[in-house]
Amino acid sequence: MKKITKKNFLIPAKDKAKYLNDFKNIYKKRPIQKNIGGMPIINLFNLYSVIRSLKPKIIVESGTFKGQSSWFILKAAPKAKIYCFDIDLTQLIYKSNKIKYIEGDIKNYNFYNIKEKSILILDDHQNQIERLKQSVLFGFDYVFLDDNSDNKNHDFYTLQHLLKKINFNHNQKIKSIFKTMYIFLFLMVNKIFKNSNSYSLLKSRLKDFKFKKNNLEFLNSYIVKIYDFHIHKYYFKKKFYADFKSEKKNGKYQNLIKLKKFNKN
Ligand SMILES: C[S@@+](CC[C@H](N)C(=O)[O-])C[C@H]1O[C@@H](n2cnc3c(N)ncnc32)[C@H](O)[C@@H]1O
Repeated sequence: MKKITKKNFLIPAKDKAKYLNDFKNIYKKRPIQKNIGGMPIINLFNLYSVIRSLKPKIIVESGTFKGQSSWFILKAAPKAKIYCFDIDLTQLIYKSNKIKYIEGDIKNYNFYNIKEKSILILDDHQNQIERLKQSVLFGFDYVFLDDNSDNKNHDFYTLQHLLKKINFNHNQKIKSIFKTMYIFLFLMVNKIFKNSNSYSLLKSRLKDFKFKKNNLEFLNSYIVKIYDFHIHKYYFKKKFYADFKSEKKNGKYQNLIKLKKFNKN
């Protein structure tokens, strides 16, 4: 089995200086000043610069939350077709009429056979391997992964877990376990009396996943390259000290994935 190669995501110096400068001005005007639970500053910059340099025609975000990252996406590619997914759009604070918002899971949407240059941005805290498989099937050219951590206590199974052959045991706090049990009981009672359920709420709370060699083989065939990001810590510390300081994980665990096209014929 060939090894998936990693590379730094390089932007020509002239463009990078421009992106940093534009980002600095845009960041000041961001719609949500304190976006707790959303991407911190360096993560937003990496996302912004990836979109500006790749210039995709179709951009899909899964995990929109209040709408802050989608605002940066729109700023980076005002002419692209942008779709934003979240299972709970009532959280949305920033909304644009240039973005199509969809309440639900991307796996149930018909994105098959995307023809134009496309990127999927994943910040929905769902199993990244299942998402990468869906991305191959849908025909995305790139996938941008946020929170691709190999920590055993992470919130969801990631590409890093798979590459390091880690079994993932979703660590829930006691309060969360009781909530999951309550949901399970509710669904069972519902099943007995109404006979039909959607289990996605339960599934999104039980995220355990075992290492499977087949998943590694699948991704080995479809991942062309994994890109890492240089962390611009010095620049951000100097220019945005307060925002930088408040975020411990700033700029960590992001990757851009280039996918091979899935041949359906
Ligand atoms: C970390 S937040 C996203 C933060 C946002 N990208 C930002 O930077 O501001 C994760 C979001 O994923 C959403 N989510 C959870 N499960 C999802 C699913 N299956 N599909 C899409 N979104 C989902 C949650 O409702 C939550 O709003």
